[in-house]
Parts: sequence; structure tokens; C-alpha cells
Amino acid sequence: MKRDVAIVGAGYVGLPLAQVFAEAGVGVVLLDLDAGRVAAVGRGGSYIEDVPSEALAPLVEQGLISATTDYDAVRETDAILIALPTPLSPNREPDLSIVLGAVRMLAGRLRPGHLVVLESTTYPGTTREDVLPILEESGLQAGKDFHLAFSPERVDPGRSDWTTKTTPKIVGGITAACTERACELYRRALDTVIPVSTPEAAELTKLLENIFRSVNIALVNELAQLCDRMGVDVWEVVEAAATKPFGFMSFQPGPGLGGHCLPVDPFYLSWKAREFDFYTEFIELAGKVNENMPYFCLEKITRALNSHERSVKGSKVHLLGVAYKADVGDLRESPALKLVELLRAEGANVSYHDPHVPELPEYGLSSTDLNGALEDADCVAIVTAHSGIDYDRLVARARLVVDFRNATGKNGTANGRVWKL
Ligand SMILES: NC(=O)c1ccc[n+]([C@@H]2O[C@H](COP(=O)([O-])OP(=O)(O)OC[C@H]3O[C@@H](n4cnc5c(N)ncnc54)[C@H](O)[C@@H]3O)[C@@H](O)[C@H]2O)c1
Repeated sequence: MKRDVAIVGAGYVGLPLAQVFAEAGVGVVLLDLDAGRVAAVGRGGSYIEDVPSEALAPLVEQGLISATTDYDAVRETDAILIALPTPLSPNREPDLSIVLGAVRMLAGRLRPGHLVVLESTTYPGTTREDVLPILEESGLQAGKDFHLAFSPERVDPGRSDWTTKTTPKIVGGITAACTERACELYRRALDTVIPVSTPEAAELTKLLENIFRSVNIALVNELAQLCDRMGVDVWEVVEAAATKPFGFMSFQPGPGLGGHCLPVDPFYLSWKAREFDFYTEFIELAGKVNENMPYFCLEKITRALNSHERSVKGSKVHLLGVAYKADVGDLRESPALKLVELLRAEGANVSYHDPHVPELPEYGLSSTDLNGALEDADCVAIVTAHSGIDYDRLVARARLVVDFRNATGKNGTANGRVWKL
């Protein structure tokens, strides 16, 4: 079967995107350096929660999806979509080495008529200033010989009301023809495609969305710390404010930001802004407040144990949920990992239960039975509110609960053994 589209990077973004194209009858080859992932796709086995194997396997059997580690696969396709990681370097600067390394591999295989779209979240200017010159080393010219655009991925893993197919897709090309060509491709599979005038506008749109969330989460996280001092229930306040039908949007406090996006993406913009003698103060402030949350959580656990005449040192602290958000197994930047480190540094004996994360090898931990922990632990801290956990039972049985997610709800508020964020 002819492969219309190559997707470089078969991760949280690439695999769902492949599914959506394939379900629309568009043949996809997934290109990934991870041979294990390539083999899994070949067997029709998914490793991403949002793509059930039952949905993937028939698409693989019908030949609509295949996977390879060989970049030569792009020679056969019309379009190349890049969905590769864009992390921060150890000193918190944009690290485009994965994306640009892949673009170099693609440049040697570019041919007239190719459409290349970058989907990875990045700072404004990446497509034009970084990707385009490398691709043009092929001798081909963007807008003339090949088309180049940026189209941010907006998927929210674990979400079912808005999916890769139904979430509107923003597209900004190097030229009007590039935009149109990319829009045409996405319209074959996605419900709504929205063109913008430039790749920079599309790049910044994605960053605005993530910065908006990061800043609003920081706002409620700061409020949660003030409420703690004032003895006010922040969850009740947020819930009450959310009854206003206009002018308010509800964000939940929590133990800190996690995932590949919110703790990382805003700093792509602060870095780029410095080139323009500009300081993005909201981004920095939100980062500071959100990064402090695991430390605040440690303090809360310390006070809760203290109320039971126990010190953190020598206490058994059981973390319920270590993934960065509910109902996924994604550990990237998870505040729970920071909390494990902070608790251990204070001498706590840490265990955890997470139905989505069987092992934490770098911490020498495996998910333990929750029932045993309820009998045994001096304190159970709810860090991620996975569904399928009986929180009422937990409140009834645990010696002490510190709930950073309001998972115990009103039941927790009424119970003297439950401390809430
Ligand atoms: N995960 C999300 O929720 C989400 C949402 C929106 C946007 N994004 C953005 O999308 C981009 C991709 O993120 P992701 O979460 O899908 O990443 P991921 O880590 O889940 O997947 C990336 C894949 O790329 C592969 N890979 C790494 N280097 C490679 C190379 N040189 N060639 C081929 N394959 C290679 C990895 O093996 C992995 O399978 C990032 O820029 C991210 O910020 C992510």
C-alpha cells in the first residue's frame, strides 16, 4: 500500500496522529529510532493509552500503518510530519538537537513535491530560522520545490471529549501555498483546520495556550498556600468561583506541574524573548510558584505527621499515584518524583501505588499493594488522583491522609485524619 504520510516520532503525539490518518484511509509510515516501539507497532501493539491495541491492530493488518527505523521510508511519502521531543537542556534552555538532527536526516532525502510539517512545540522562528535552512541544504527551495509549515499538536493525553481528530488544528506555512498544502492534508483526517498567516503565529499560538495554563495553575497554587495559612478550603473557593457563568475559568491547584508540556514549553518563549531584550515575567513567576509546590507538599506532609507526633525521618510515607496526571502512566516531569526525592532526603521510608506505573527503577521502587499500605503507612499522600481507587475506603482505613488533589472530596474535609492542599 502507498504511504502518503511519514510521521517522525511515534510517541504520545505521533501514534494517535497516525491512527487518525489511517482511519481516514491515509496510509502512514511511522519512523522512530526506538526499535522496540517499531516492533510493537508492527505487531499491532500499542504503548500509548490513547491508542488502544484493538484500534491499532486492524489498521496495521490492513497495511494502513507501518513502522520503521529507516529514514529512507520518507523517500516514498508525499508528506513528512515531525512529532519529536523538544526538551530543555540541563540549564533550562531550548534543546532542539533531536528535531534538528532529524531534519538533517530528512534533508538528504528531500525531493521536489514533499510537504514537511513540524508539529513539535517550540519557540516562534524555529520553522523559518532553524528548520528551513537545513532543508534547503538539499538544494531545493521552500515554497517552490517543497512545502514547509508548522502545525502545533494540541493533544491532551487521557482526554476523551477532545481528541486528535476533533481538536481544531492550527496551520501556518512559510508561504500561502505551503499553508494551503498542509491544510489540505490535515483536512483529509481532522474535523477542523484553521490556517494562520505564518509559522511564527502558529508556533506562538501553541505557546500562548500552554503559558495560559501554567500561569493560571500558578495563580491557584499560590492561593492554595495562602488558604493554608488562613485556614480556608481552597477547593471550596475554586468550586464556588466556578459557578460564575462568565468571566472565570476554573483551574485546580496541585502538587506541581508535570508532563512534557507545561513545565517545559513556556521557557522556550522566555529564552527567545531575550533575543528581543524582553523579559516574560509572567512565565518566570508562574514557573517559580509551580516549581515550589513539591516543597510545599513536603511541608504539609511534615506538619500532618507532626500532628500525629511523628517526624518525617523514619516514617513510612506512601504516595498514591506517581504519574503526572490521572489515568495515564506518563512520568515525565512528574512532581511525585520530586516528592520522592525530598521525602527521602528527610529520611522518610517511601513506597508508592500506581496502577499505571508498575516500576520506578531509577528510585528502586515498584508499585505496592494499596491495601497493605493502608495498614502499614504512617501517611498516605494522594499525589495523582487516578480513577478506580476507592477514596472513601482509603479515608476510612488509612492512619493519616494528605490529599493534594481533593480526591477525597467532602468526605475528606469532614474527616480529621485527612489533610488537604
Ligand atoms: N505529549 C503531549 O501531551 C504533547 C501534547 C502536545 C504537544 N506535544 C509536543 O509534541 C512533541 C512530541 O512529544 P511526544 O509527547 O509525542 O514525545 P514522545 O517522547 O512521546 O515521542 C517521541 C518519539 O520520538 C522518538 N525519537 C526520538 N528521537 C528520534 C529521532 N531522531 N528519529 C526518530 N524518532 C525519534 C522516540 O523514540 C519517541 O518514540 C513535543 O514537542 C511535545 O512538546 C506533546
